[in-house]
Amino acid sequence: MEIIKGIAQLKSLVAQAREAKKSIGLVPTMGALHAGHISLVNRCVAENEVCVVSVFVNPTQFNDKSDLAAYPRTPEQDAAMLEKAGCDIVFMPEVEEMYPEPDTRQFAFGALEQVMEGPYRPGHFNGVAQIVSKLFYAVEPDLAYFGEKDFQQVAIIREMVKQLQLPVKIVSCPIVREADGLAMSSRNQRLNEEERKKSVLISKYLFESRTFAGEKSLAETKAFVEENIGKVDIFRLDYFEIVDGYTLQPVKNWEDADYVVGCIAVFCGPVRLIDNIIYKS
Ligand code: PAF
Repeated sequence: MEIIKGIAQLKSLVAQAREAKKSIGLVPTMGALHAGHISLVNRCVAENEVCVVSVFVNPTQFNDKSDLAAYPRTPEQDAAMLEKAGCDIVFMPEVEEMYPEPDTRQFAFGALEQVMEGPYRPGHFNGVAQIVSKLFYAVEPDLAYFGEKDFQQVAIIREMVKQLQLPVKIVSCPIVREADGLAMSSRNQRLNEEERKKSVLISKYLFESRTFAGEKSLAETKAFVEENIGKVDIFRLDYFEIVDGYTLQPVKNWEDADYVVGCIAVFCGPVRLIDNIIYKS
């Protein structure tokens, strides 16, 4: 496994692979890797001849500077996990390498970015599009892998690929959960003992709401989750929306869409967690 810090070196390595007619897969990450990331890497290794993983905490997607400062960074541990998973190339650039000058590009994702995370994290998806497009230009992967925990991010990246007409196929992979149901996230490392214990209630109420949804209206199901989450003293709900899984627009009735997903963002103490559940697909 090669660990690379420069874009020029990365481009020359992937060019060699492409010349040898090898397929190239990319897993973009911000590091602090966990089993969820490794599930993406496993899939990338299985489906491509060369697996590239980027590890870069991208400053332009953080609207809150304290969140950026608190984001966990574990490069040595990440490299060891990636080596074990069979990754070929790890790209770990410094900020100056990715942003030698400010990226002034402004993407427009319309209604996709005006819901859920959009209003709570202004500029976030623009920053995600900036870094992911830079990575796509550098690696030119055949396939790129993203986790479905960031449900809205996957939709935005698909839209970006469409707008930029990039020849990459986006592969979305299911959420990986802890044994008790909590969706795996690098942010979970920041939960203290009480927060970690109570954080499980997010997935618990989402799972219960799926059973509940079998007999109840969409509005009742939404209220069920909001009310139960609202009862947990250390939670502060940003949103729980039940949306069309393609357009991300809220739906009013179960019959309004073929693909229906419930997406939640909730502060557990100081740590903002997101999760989602598929009601219908
Ligand atoms: O999902 C993430 O970890 C990040 O948003 C991504 C896609 C690596 C871009 O920085």
